[in-house]
Amino acid sequence: MTAQLIDGNALSRQLRGEVAQRAAALTARGVTPGLAVVLVGDNQASAVYVRNKVKACADNGLHSVLEKYDASMTEAELLARVEALNEDPSIHGILVQLPLPAHIDAHKVIETISPEKDVDGFHVASAGALMVGQPGFKPCTPYGCMKMLESIGVNPRGKHAVVIGRSNIVGKPMAMLLLAANATVTVCHSATPDLAHHTRQADIVVAAVGKRNVLTADMVKPGAVVIDVGMNRNDEGKLCGDVDFAGVSDVAGWITPVPGGVGPMTITMLLVNTIEAAERRAG
Ligand code: GUN
Repeated sequence: MTAQLIDGNALSRQLRGEVAQRAAALTARGVTPGLAVVLVGDNQASAVYVRNKVKACADNGLHSVLEKYDASMTEAELLARVEALNEDPSIHGILVQLPLPAHIDAHKVIETISPEKDVDGFHVASAGALMVGQPGFKPCTPYGCMKMLESIGVNPRGKHAVVIGRSNIVGKPMAMLLLAANATVTVCHSATPDLAHHTRQADIVVAAVGKRNVLTADMVKPGAVVIDVGMNRNDEGKLCGDVDFAGVSDVAGWITPVPGGVGPMTITMLLVNTIEAAERRAG
């Protein structure tokens, strides 16, 4: 292995320390930053994510409320809950865990969250703000990836960044953040004919597909920074990313591990966004 590891756990600890300080400062002013987490149904993975988010709040001085509802909850009932949370002054951030049961229109639910409380950064107003360079909440996973680049002293300006994946949650906002940081950005996806042609030119590769071994050693320029957003299971049931870690780490200059890379950063940036929301409100 020649690549240096970008340690998401260590960076998260540092950033969460800063969050805890800001939370304490707000609390001293009478404003305890509050996050509402809404979980509908019994998706096992969602239950784990939500538990980790609530625990991260408690560990860092944020107040959180977890609202759990049965999968039979109607769309109208959920919209009414979101509207009530929009009006609740003790809540600065609202997160509705996805996926939602099929009978609920997730888009409608997200658009009902007040943009001032959209700490996931999923509202069209947040996406639009990111697109045109206005203040707004950045989606947590790509925001965390940008913090990882910053932590190793890699400035995207003038670099060629290749993003693999075009989801609204990761790929598209990742491309926008890299563009805003003056990278030349290529977005590749399932209809890209020769992925390796693009990735071989990249100084920075972000893999966000949700499929193992999307990026292998022969597809990477020596010394490149490789950020792996994937969360998959291998044949032995072990957690792995989208990148062939063993192979790529012999070619890349920097690489994020899975687990212990981007994963912890996503929750950390959720805390950062919630603090930011509370600070904006507190003035
Ligand atoms: N489901 C998987 N990741 C996320 C996330 O970051 N936010 C929400 N709300 N749901 C998710």
